[in-house]
Amino acid sequence: MYKTGRNFWERTKYRYLESTEQKKGREKPPLELEYPKDSIIIDLPKPEDLKIASFDLREAIEKRTSIRKYSEEQLSLEELSYALWCTQGIKEVVPGVTTFRTVPSAGACHAFETYVLVNKVEEIEPGLYRFLAIKHALLGIKFGDDLADKLTEACLGQKFVKTGALAFFWVAVRERMTWRYGERGYRYLLLDAGHICQNLYLSGLSLGCGTCAIAAFEDDDLNSVLDLDGQDEFVVYGASLGKRRNPLE
Ligand SMILES: Cc1cc2nc3c(=O)[nH]c(=O)nc-3n(C[C@H](O)[C@H](O)[C@H](O)COP(=O)(O)O)c2cc1C
Repeated sequence: MYKTGRNFWERTKYRYLESTEQKKGREKPPLELEYPKDSIIIDLPKPEDLKIASFDLREAIEKRTSIRKYSEEQLSLEELSYALWCTQGIKEVVPGVTTFRTVPSAGACHAFETYVLVNKVEEIEPGLYRFLAIKHALLGIKFGDDLADKLTEACLGQKFVKTGALAFFWVAVRERMTWRYGERGYRYLLLDAGHICQNLYLSGLSLGCGTCAIAAFEDDDLNSVLDLDGQDEFVVYGASLGKRRNPLE
């Protein structure tokens, strides 16, 4: 029983690890995916200019819960910027070497790219975007009336994908992690993703929002809607975010 899981756990122990690409002296993968220079780019309000009110950490931890029904209210661009900053925002770039972000990452590999389905955000056309963390901007990826439906379907029909103001999909760019850790890097991708999503849960409270994690999805369908090959780039985790129907007392 559970042969695949047991095998994965066994074979990713340090003692089996092969020489990594890093040890073989191979060049480090780029810190971020490239994009065509003529793409649609939306600059987001800068993290240092955000006027989001502070929220007590203890209260956030105590009140955190998964919320799947939201109000119709839109998020502002500032609130979107804040949610992206809390989950993947960059505090320091060491060019060609690494980034330091608001979340931890094994070996500071930061292998994730954030894809975000925008359903209800002021000043932004609904559609699929990718967060350009270094530039703190959004890159337009895909638009179309059926996009939210397709993503909902790929998430086993979970309606909050399209009823939330936003749905985040955290996509692993495998080589950014396996370059340093080989097969064991797959474990670290899963661990890194947890930190990211938890920051969304907690920061959502300061935006008057509710969050629900999403890991129930058909991998192949979801990767295909996001135009990912499923081998070198694939969705690990997701979450929806929307304004609460009932404000916090
Ligand atoms: C790894 C993970 C995956 C999850 N995937 C889903 C999901 O696909 N759909 C969903 O409705 N809730 C999902 N959840 C939320 C859990 O159902 C929720 O955390 C759990 O019921 C406990 O409730 P609480 O978050 O309100 O404490 C997920 C949570 C985690 C940690």
